[in-house]
Amino acid sequence: MCGIVGYVGKRPVQDLLLAGLKKLEYRGYDSAGISVIAGDEIESLRAVGNLQNLFEAVAAREADDGGVAVAVQTATTGIGHTRWATHGRVNESNAHPHFDTSNAVHVVVNGIVENYVALKRRLQDMGAVFTSETDAEVIAHLVAHHCALGSLEDAVLAAFNELEGHFAFVAMRLDEPDKLVGVRKECPLVVGRGDGETFLASAIPAFLSETRRTQYIENDEIVVITPDDVRFLGPDGSEHEREVEEIDWDEETAEKGGFDTFMLKEIHEQADAIADTVADRTAPGTHVDLDDVGALDENMLRGIDRILITGCGTAYHAGLMGRYALEEWAQIRTEIDVASEYRYRKQLVGPGDLVIGMTQSGETADTLAAMRAAHEAGATVLAVTNVVGSQATRDADGVLYTRAGLEIGVAATKTFVCQVAVMYLLALKLAELRGTMKPATMERIVGEIKRLPHSVQEVIAAATDPDTGLPAGPVAEAAERHWQADFFLYLGRHIGLAVALEGALKLKEISYISTDAYAAGEMKHGPIALLEDGTPVVVVATDSPVKDKVVSNMQEVAARGAHVIAVAAESDHEIDEHAKQVLRVPDVDWMLQPLLGTIPLQLLAYAIASRRGLNVDQPRNLAKTVTVE
Ligand code: F6R
Repeated sequence: MCGIVGYVGKRPVQDLLLAGLKKLEYRGYDSAGISVIAGDEIESLRAVGNLQNLFEAVAAREADDGGVAVAVQTATTGIGHTRWATHGRVNESNAHPHFDTSNAVHVVVNGIVENYVALKRRLQDMGAVFTSETDAEVIAHLVAHHCALGSLEDAVLAAFNELEGHFAFVAMRLDEPDKLVGVRKECPLVVGRGDGETFLASAIPAFLSETRRTQYIENDEIVVITPDDVRFLGPDGSEHEREVEEIDWDEETAEKGGFDTFMLKEIHEQADAIADTVADRTAPGTHVDLDDVGALDENMLRGIDRILITGCGTAYHAGLMGRYALEEWAQIRTEIDVASEYRYRKQLVGPGDLVIGMTQSGETADTLAAMRAAHEAGATVLAVTNVVGSQATRDADGVLYTRAGLEIGVAATKTFVCQVAVMYLLALKLAELRGTMKPATMERIVGEIKRLPHSVQEVIAAATDPDTGLPAGPVAEAAERHWQADFFLYLGRHIGLAVALEGALKLKEISYISTDAYAAGEMKHGPIALLEDGTPVVVVATDSPVKDKVVSNMQEVAARGAHVIAVAAESDHEIDEHAKQVLRVPDVDWMLQPLLGTIPLQLLAYAIASRRGLNVDQPRNLAKTVTVE
């Protein structure tokens, strides 16, 4: 995910920006850039790929051009960015900083501007010349346009009030060289206070080696920084006071964003991750945009007879959720198999079949082998992955990226929800092309997908402590009651079965408790024998056409003394009669509720593993990327 760093002060800014970007590398990125105020020009450098390429571009400028290089080396105000592409391809012109037509305003932006198309059109009509495909560039032109109001903060304030979406940005203006103005709307941005110098960054590690004194920016606030002063403004221009706080984090805690573990941090990042994944594919309007997916153009997609999904572990579960969406919405025949099995089956696919390899790392040996086998048999192969340039992207005919950012915790969390979101988008696109969904339904569901980040945030807020981010409420109660259990059963039907499988996998891999996950209707054909008084049984009972059947299964297990923990919709009060604990999800479309339902189950697994004193980030015997068969 993208990273921002900005500085105003008395020291040479270029090295501080580069060092700050290096500290943000762990977030993942595909290009980077810096801009500094160097005398009477703003000088910018951008490079695709690893930060090393930007360092080399800086070194080349120093070797080549004495005049500019000296001005840059003595510059003391600047901004830097690492970009994880959302709108527009990975290339130098889409990398940040972005700038206005007269090169007087530069900005670095994280997040998404939802109304950029309309704003871009308006600014172009007024003469703005755009040089990138990004939504972010619109902010540079908009701020420049509003500079007529007077100061940079006046311009940013006016721009902020016109922008829709979730974002954080920092703007810099040639005419006000000792000032940066930042904005925070649902994406992180913090201030670092030094002695005669001030930092602005998307995460504390960017400046932690320079200062430990920080000021937090609230949502919907504008911050104006100069070397000696910081002002916080509301969207109406009113001034807010803010304490300076001393950070006592070490570097590792800082990388975890203050959370106890990477896994917890990544669970909390899921709203942003989904927003980045779906935004450029759904905005504007209700149309799902799957352009730029290699060989998978609309003609190819229209001609598909059958889909086969393959992957391992959590990725397989995301694929399973995708299967239900593809069948339900696009009415397309869809099969799924784990990659380690599929690769050795008789390959009965060919032209007209689409094989989807789900792999967050893009490097899982079995998934790659399964994709290759399908390709050799003549199928079109699509990779769904989180890693630009990974092997899966090179082997596939097309790639649909998730934009989860780097995931460090071994147990997949944010990459999983993004994989599911991508499968929803593919199912909607196919439904649109095949005419299998009424336009009104399409409009409603695309609208709910756009609001998924908010729904995810709601689930996380309800299930965690606002100060520590740790599991709280019913999730924490269920964990406290069952952390010593030696067995958990998970049940679900239809798409809820995939949630049960994923919930059970999360619990077993980080807590080492034995789990079984079953299609609820199959339970009475065997696993019911495992139930004893007090056995914890997690039942995915979100809304669905088979919910009554699920409720019957809950009654069956309760009758055998099991302790039922249900995952259910907010407004479903009947469920309380059948469960000891209910983990709630918002009342969104029934096909989307299961995605939200995985989040309390991640937190339940997390709470139990932590209570058992285990290392959730690095569970025993597991590797983040499984490159062996
Ligand atoms: C479980 C988990 C694994 C991975 C699996 C596939 O939390 O992370 O089950 O999902 O190893 O990995 P990728 O998606 O990289 O192919």
